[in-house]
Amino acid sequence: MHKIRDDIYWTGYIDWDLRNFHGYSTPSGSTYNAYLVMDEKPTLIDTVKHYGYTEMLRRIKRIIDPAKIEYIISNHTEMDHSGTIGEMLKLCPNARIVCSPKGAEGLKRHFLNSGHSDIEWKFKVVNTGDELDIGKRKLKFLLMPMVHWPDSMATYSPQDQILFPNDAFGQHLASSQRFVDQVGVEIALKEAEKYYANIVMPYGAQVLKVLEAVATLKLDMICPSHGLIWRTPEDIAKIIAQYARWAAYESNKQVIIVYDTMWHSTEKMALKLYEVIDSAQIPVKLVNLKTSDYSDAVTDIMRSKMVILGSAILNNQVLPSVGGFLTYLKGLKPKNRFGFTFGSYGWSKAGFKELESAMEECGIKSITEGQYMQFVPSEIELASLEQIVELIKKALAI
Ligand SMILES: [Fe+2]
Ligand SMILES: [Fe+2]
Repeated sequence: MHKIRDDIYWTGYIDWDLRNFHGYSTPSGSTYNAYLVMDEKPTLIDTVKHYGYTEMLRRIKRIIDPAKIEYIISNHTEMDHSGTIGEMLKLCPNARIVCSPKGAEGLKRHFLNSGHSDIEWKFKVVNTGDELDIGKRKLKFLLMPMVHWPDSMATYSPQDQILFPNDAFGQHLASSQRFVDQVGVEIALKEAEKYYANIVMPYGAQVLKVLEAVATLKLDMICPSHGLIWRTPEDIAKIIAQYARWAAYESNKQVIIVYDTMWHSTEKMALKLYEVIDSAQIPVKLVNLKTSDYSDAVTDIMRSKMVILGSAILNNQVLPSVGGFLTYLKGLKPKNRFGFTFGSYGWSKAGFKELESAMEECGIKSITEGQYMQFVPSEIELASLEQIVELIKKALAI
């Protein structure tokens, strides 16, 4: 039994097998965290993904007969957290679903259209500042639109000084331990970084608003819906500081070169760029999309102030691996960065337009025109890339 505080239990599911979360690689698995608050009106905060239902129920039954649950709080409609509410309602006939206005709309769309229209759905819709009296505790709600869905909200227990912010501050990390300090803050921060880059990055402005509201709360614990709980004052301060930094699109003075190659010409350019940047003692990373994972590349991009994107041209287009990556990157919009594009082509440079427009759409400011070389670059052409180092230094203020 995972008791995280008097009368508050973790009743989630540990997903040891998860390796891919809609395109985001999760080599460390994940957890879906549900929390049972045993007050006069027993309250379940979030549920789990559909295949974690039996496990969640087993954990709940050790503590209470599920029929006694009076509220199920759905902080977020996405089915990794709300996927088993329909099943739970069959066991908790008196339970009311507490959610945001958008949450109610979303849950109806998900469940009433998928075979759960035979049970009664009793909603209690809440807004920011609303209070839910469950006995000793008066739970409060904070709507967090677009962190990371329109329906997202956080639940706060002032009596416990615990924030349940759902996906915010989460990490995809499976562990038998429940707390960051048990596993190690560096590990948790690394997973939180990848999580932010791949899930939260487009919503920096909204995250900053949430951080403002969170700054007014006394926090003894932050209990996210994935991964480990932040509970020491130091760890709580660290994750909040990191969120503030990421939300402001801050990055390090380092370079990432992301590319794919067809007949090794773009690779030659990438290696030359790497060599000259490294020689200038600027931290640089080389990512070949043929062998690297999109979600790791995006995490590296979030860390780097300079983003260099390259592709060979195939039938007037960038390579499919690069095209797919650009689609992903345009959705995540890593703003406030510098960069440029490069690559090898056969007879037309038209395909590079996609690279250039993707950079622009992401808010990556070009420091030079695209560096494109026909068929196989000569030694002289490769040497011409050396002059870009000065532009990189200037952009990074080195
Ligand atoms: Fe989500
Ligand atoms: Fe989630």
